[in-house]
Amino acid sequence: MSVHKEVKKVTTHVLQEMKANGEKISMLTAYDYSLARIVDDAGIDVILVGDSASNVMAGHETTLPITLDQMIYHASSVIRAIDRALVVVDLPFGSYQGNSRSALESAIRIMKESGAHSVKLEGGSEVIESISRILSAGIPVMGHLGLTPQSIYKFGTYTVRAKEEEEAEKLIADAKLLEEKGCFALVLEKIPAKLAEKVAKEITIPIIGIGAGGGVDGQVLVLHDMLGINNEFNPRFLRKYNNLYEQIISSITSYIDDVRSSDFPNDKEQY
Ligand code: KIV
Repeated sequence: MSVHKEVKKVTTHVLQEMKANGEKISMLTAYDYSLARIVDDAGIDVILVGDSASNVMAGHETTLPITLDQMIYHASSVIRAIDRALVVVDLPFGSYQGNSRSALESAIRIMKESGAHSVKLEGGSEVIESISRILSAGIPVMGHLGLTPQSIYKFGTYTVRAKEEEEAEKLIADAKLLEEKGCFALVLEKIPAKLAEKVAKEITIPIIGIGAGGGVDGQVLVLHDMLGINNEFNPRFLRKYNNLYEQIISSITSYIDDVRSSDFPNDKEQY
């Protein structure tokens, strides 16, 4: 019997059972009430309030500018919309690196002020003290390895990570470390499919991939990308399920035409 069909609320334990049962986990981003409600109603397992809100919602070039207060605002809007999905919230750049005490304070603020169920942060051994401290407060943590967009100025580009052996070995060691410390799941972003599959086989926590092939335990995409709202972003890993950009343009141009021609409002559309 499939685990995900039975559950009324997805928890970290449900995700673990899904992996054990060989059921793939579906995850999408959401940053606001209205879209989160649709995503949850559609039956998604996990909603990520990603720091990609910095790009998608605010139009920044990178994820670095978004603040903890802004993440809490997005997360609390999403939380008000959902009944079933597990909600994971990104700790933004600068809120956890370097100082495990402020990392814990940031995670506590997210949990208390938004009502979210868990947090995600980028990195392996470099941030392990922060991860351990957050976990020790009973806050579930999702890891994120591979392409970690908060380190874009270190990488220099958004190309595929861990193609070389040294970086692949570090990624495997970091994945094992995150599992050992108690992370409940791990995102692997833009790495070779074979490497991601190896990690998913070698560790017991669910591995959610984005641009990491089909051999992992689940997939995540940015909602606005997969709906085709943003028509400028076309990486190889992205499957577009709609072209909302075109559909929204068409609706708005019809509205403009109707207003200009005085077709809208008609007799039935007024008091
Ligand atoms: O912020 C985000 O949307 C993410 C996903 C790309 C995994 O971290």
